[in-house]
Amino acid sequence: MTRFPKKSVYVETYGCQMNISDGELMEGILVNDGYEVSSSAEEADVIIVNTCAIREHAEERVLGRIGQLYALKKDRPEVILGVTGCMAQRLGTVLLKRAPYVDLVMGPDAYRSLPEQLGRIQRGARSLPSRSSKKRGPQLAVLDLNIGENYEGLTQRRTSSVSAWVPIQRGCNHRCTFCIVPYVRGPEKNRKSSEVLQEIQEIVGSGRTEVTLLGQTVNSYQSEGISFHELLRSVARIPGMRRVRFTSPHPNDVTPELLEVMAEEPNICEQLHLPVQSGNDKVLRKMLRRYTVETFLDKVQLARDLIPDLSLSTDIIVAFPGETEIQFEDTLELLRQVRFDDAYTYKYSLRDGTPATRLPQEDFLSEDEAQNRLAKLIEVQRSIQSEINEAEVGRTEEVLVEKEGRKKGQVLGRTRRNKVVAFTAPSDTIGGYQQVFLTSTTGATFVGEMVN
Ligand code: 5AD
Repeated sequence: MTRFPKKSVYVETYGCQMNISDGELMEGILVNDGYEVSSSAEEADVIIVNTCAIREHAEERVLGRIGQLYALKKDRPEVILGVTGCMAQRLGTVLLKRAPYVDLVMGPDAYRSLPEQLGRIQRGARSLPSRSSKKRGPQLAVLDLNIGENYEGLTQRRTSSVSAWVPIQRGCNHRCTFCIVPYVRGPEKNRKSSEVLQEIQEIVGSGRTEVTLLGQTVNSYQSEGISFHELLRSVARIPGMRRVRFTSPHPNDVTPELLEVMAEEPNICEQLHLPVQSGNDKVLRKMLRRYTVETFLDKVQLARDLIPDLSLSTDIIVAFPGETEIQFEDTLELLRQVRFDDAYTYKYSLRDGTPATRLPQEDFLSEDEAQNRLAKLIEVQRSIQSEINEAEVGRTEEVLVEKEGRKKGQVLGRTRRNKVVAFTAPSDTIGGYQQVFLTSTTGATFVGEMVN
């Protein structure tokens, strides 16, 4: 326990679901150490900005935000400002030099030691290498990646009373040439299935009936002879469980066995996020995705054959170095062919240290060209998505009510196929399931009416 009067912490998280889950883990670790969780930075003794490094834009946002938080420290110099997560891991001591008012940088494998390190800062320690030790206050860098760290035995402070994130795997063994993740989160490490199942039993015991299993390539999970589809089946069969999802799978590890489990187990939602990245084989090869458009399409077909009414989403990167206009058109064509229910679309962003940075300089596309391609891609996807969603108006769907909506008297929830629906209902419906008639769509989300 801390030797100080009760301290409060505010954790602000950027980035992916894994990071959201890590934010809940940090809160859990600190609450266990006697901290209170504060709902705003202004009131907290410790502010943690839990960051993402996936694209430059994500990092710029965080740099702007920590600059803002510096203003708080001017009024209350005793406030501790920590930066955790993938950007902290990537920039490390460079970030401490660039932002001297940051007290702590900590990578994704060091959260267990958070109370101890905060204690050291409170007591005035510093551990910057001596060559950078111009006296300017205690700064600490905790950046060791740890192949053994699965955070077993620690509990998250779950933010949602409805649904839970459950990391089953950390790190990544792939080397997609655009991606920073393997360098900031290290190699793949999987949790024991017995511990995952026990955690999920506790989650169900706490009244939550939906879980999302998390991992960078979640379906390559393998632990003590248990593979992903076996774990998934066991999770789906836990008494009281109603909805199981997982993200993000790698297309290569989408096996017939996995699709069969999804088809057979009624509690596994008809939803699959399958990042394709590009619709051209040459680009896929340069990205080191290790599949072709044809084999990807075969997987999509098999998935749709086995799981009727499957909702599919994807990730796409445009303007990867060397991508020609025709190769970009291939990606548009893939979108038209597959007709994904949703797509997360990105411009290629150069990440120092990744293999793609070594491609010939002249291959890198201009910002304007990248922006044009992204705009075109979004336009094509938006129109497909609206067509798909308009065709769903008139259906009655089971909705898990998650929270209050923006409009008074409205709540928000999701269908099994992961579509967001707003409808009028009392707030005591939150956490429960309702049959909802879909009355209209904005193109992306739905408005509905409760069916009695
Ligand atoms: N540039 C643009 N997008 C990227 N992604 C990962 N790395 C990069 C990058 N360097 C995208 C991929 C991935 C998603 C999480 O982020 O589409 O699936």
